[in-house]
Order: sequence, then structure tokens, then C-alpha cells
Amino acid sequence: MNHDNWFAITQLQVADDQKHFVAPNTFSLTQAHYQPELKLVPLGAFEGDTPVGFVMYGQYHYEGKDMQLIFRLMVDKNHQRKGYGRAIMEQTIERMKMLPMCEAIYISFEPENIAAKNLYIGVGFEDTGTIDEDEVIYRLKVI
Ligand SMILES: CC(C)(COP(=O)(O)OP(=O)(O)OC[C@H]1O[C@@H](n2cnc3c(N)ncnc32)[C@H](O)[C@@H]1OP(=O)(O)O)[C@@H](O)C(=O)NCCC(=O)NCCS
Repeated sequence: MNHDNWFAITQLQVADDQKHFVAPNTFSLTQAHYQPELKLVPLGAFEGDTPVGFVMYGQYHYEGKDMQLIFRLMVDKNHQRKGYGRAIMEQTIERMKMLPMCEAIYISFEPENIAAKNLYIGVGFEDTGTIDEDEVIYRLKVI
């Protein structure tokens, strides 16, 4: 994302019945600015010049440990079910694997979010059996 295209990312929307699954991208970008301790990395996903999705990862302190966490993922409602979600996840995992000391990548989601669950299992995440703030936590082992 840069000076020329960040605004387009703020305009991406999920469907109305998906809005409770993910914060608006404007919120995520604001959070990345004001919570530097999370080391958040917001990334826009583009097909050519067309914005299609957004992902943001960072560091989450949980039970005395720092974990690498994917905080947000969304694909615009007009671009879903075209493989973008999977492509974004695969590329994000490749980036995160290069982070120093990255032994595992975590992601959490509401248990009724079947699309997210299928997608995460499809790219290799496994249930940790832990629930935090009503969200299930999945993990992808890197090492
Ligand atoms: C979850 C989300 C990112 C998936 O993005 P997408 O671009 O539609 O996903 P893809 O087209 O790459 O699909 C990848 C896999 O996800 C699963 N999937 C995606 N949409 C699904 C749906 N509506 N129902 C069931 N499974 C679904 C499937 O396993 C699919 O693989 P397949 O096409 O081989 O069946 C998208 O639905 C979204 O933005 N949802 C709202 C926000 C959200 O819930 N974010 C996650 C918060 S934790």
C-alpha cells in the first residue's frame, strides 16, 4: 500500500452479514498507527490496479509469550470465491516465515465463520483447542 492506493483499500467492503467477522479497514489502519507495540503490518491485495482485499499481521502478547498473529483478513464482497483469500493467505504466510524467530503463525476467528475456517484449514492451519474472547485460535507450525 502506498500514497496512491491506500484510499482504495479503505473503500473495500465485506457483505452485510459478514461485517461482524472483521473490523473495517479504516479501523485496522488506524490501529496500526496507534498501537506500535503490536508491530502491525497492513497490506493491500491488488489484481493489477484493482484492489481486492486486505490483510494485517503483527505480534500479539498472549499468556506470557509473543506470537505472530494474522489480525485481519478480508476480501471485498465483489471479489470473493475467486481464490483471492487463499492467495493472500499463502503470500502472507511466506512473508511471515521470514520474520525472525517465527516458529508458528496464529489466527483467530469466530467459530461460525465457516468460510474462514475452511480457508485456514486449506492452507495448513490446525485448531489449538484454545478459545480467546469467543474466538477459536488456529496455528500453522513453521518450524
Ligand atoms: C474468508 C474470506 C477472506 C475468504 O476469501 P475468498 O477470496 O472468498 O476465499 P477463496 O475464494 O480464496 O476460497 C478459499 C477457500 O475458502 C473457503 N471458502 C471461501 N468462501 C467460502 C464460503 N462462502 N463457504 C464455505 N467455504 C468458503 C473454501 O474452502 C475455499 O476453497 P474452495 O474454493 O476450494 O472451496 C472472505 O469470505 C471474507 O472476506 N469474509 C469476510 C471477512 C472475514 O470473515 N474475514 C476473516 C476474519 S477471521
